[in-house]
Amino acid sequence: MENPAIALNENMQRFETEDKEAFLEFRFICPVAATATGGEELSSEVEEEKREKVVMDMLHTYVPRNKRGMGVAKHLCVAAFSYAQTHSMLVIPTCSYISDTFLPRNPSWRALVYNEELKSSM
Ligand code: COA
Repeated sequence: MENPAIALNENMQRFETEDKEAFLEFRFICPVAATATGGEELSSEVEEEKREKVVMDMLHTYVPRNKRGMGVAKHLCVAAFSYAQTHSMLVIPTCSYISDTFLPRNPSWRALVYNEELKSSM
């Protein structure tokens, strides 16, 4: 399968395919407030310089049934992790696909993980 084009939808806080049917949903949280119960939620208009102190909590990945098993979720993850890396952010893998499948299969991205044990309650 050809690599699907993935775009950032800042308003929705998602990385998504062109048809918007598959997506990886995230939120930015303050690392100091990032606890097992969630942490302080920040607005999407966080200034660029503050982003260096922000962690990307990857909440949920969704791919429609008829497109599963073709690596779409992996491409969404690569786009999201690449964005985090470019913006010097760390990541919390709250989504089970990311913690249980994507990271074990793509261990080089573990370097960005804020804390393996830390997942938000969402
Ligand atoms: N947790 C961890 N791994 C999962 C999973 C889950 N909930 N659901 C599927 N996987 C694994 C499958 O076992 C599969 O492994 P295989 O290659 O050995 O068959 C692998 O993901 C497929 O990888 P990929 O093709 O990159 O994923 P995908 O495009 O099929 O999408 C999901 C994977 C999870 C996003 C999709 O199945 C989905 O939308 N499920 C419903 C929502 C959901 O459960 N999301 C995850 C929790 S937030």
